[in-house]
Amino acid sequence: MRVAVAGATGRTGSEIVAEARERGHTVHALSREPVGEERDIAHLPAVLRDETDVLIDFTVPEATVDHVQVAAETGTPIVVGTTGFSEEGLDALSDAAESTPVLRASNFAPGVQALLRVVRAGVEALPEYDIEMTETHHNGKRDAPSGTANTVLNEIDAAREAALERVYGREGEQPREDGEVGVHVRRAGNVRGEHEVLLAGNDEVLTLTHRAESRRVFAAGAVDAAEWVREQDAGEYEFSETL
Ligand SMILES: NC(=O)c1ccc[n+]([C@@H]2O[C@H](COP(=O)([O-])OP(=O)(O)OC[C@H]3O[C@@H](n4cnc5c(N)ncnc54)[C@H](OP(=O)(O)O)[C@@H]3O)[C@@H](O)[C@H]2O)c1
Repeated sequence: MRVAVAGATGRTGSEIVAEARERGHTVHALSREPVGEERDIAHLPAVLRDETDVLIDFTVPEATVDHVQVAAETGTPIVVGTTGFSEEGLDALSDAAESTPVLRASNFAPGVQALLRVVRAGVEALPEYDIEMTETHHNGKRDAPSGTANTVLNEIDAAREAALERVYGREGEQPREDGEVGVHVRRAGNVRGEHEVLLAGNDEVLTLTHRAESRRVFAAGAVDAAEWVREQDAGEYEFSETL
């Protein structure tokens, strides 16, 4: 398979380049400022038109929206790992999916897919319990809370059949109210990504935690998704569909 990687010098993009090469794929590493073997991202339209079966994008939302448009024009299947999109950004991805397959996921770790199922089961089994969510990432992460945290929060809402009020941190006099979920964000060091859901009744606490030990888990999931999405018709897809 011929894979183009946008954001190839990034923390995750560089792992994707390595993972795809280890699997024997031909990789075009694309960067705004090529320093070695990368090619200039300005060549994206030509690279997608002539040399690529699937594009993997782990950059920033504003760049991803541009890249997805080029992928739509060239009919290139695309895997999007970037998080932090605005509503307009998500609409642009949906528009592109009318002409090419688009698979977007806030987290390409298989363990997070399992966490979502376990969280749903836990929340459904404990309907009266208070819920608090905490996520921790490295100090370079731009968006907060993480895309994964938002996905987990949506799952909690679905399990409770309600839109819980998201209370971001607490300060001063702020007692807990019914129908809220606390959301706590930590940014420190080189933490790859940690998500914890805490369910508490009066006499017990249940915590459900996922921790990425290495970015390679995201890279492997993204390359799995690329191998899968290139066989699909135009449309929007989720990572869970590939597992
Ligand atoms: N879905 C998942 O499983 C998952 C996992 C980890 C991270 N992420 C998400 O993936 C994204 C990247 O994360 P990261 O930690 O790898 O970030 P990072 O280390 O900052 O890398 C992002 C790369 O994007 C490129 N870039 C930045 N601004 C750009 C622009 N305006 N136009 C084109 N390219 C641009 C840069 O590469 P060049 O300068 O070489 O162009 C940069 O190295 C984030 O949104 C993060 O939340 C998702």
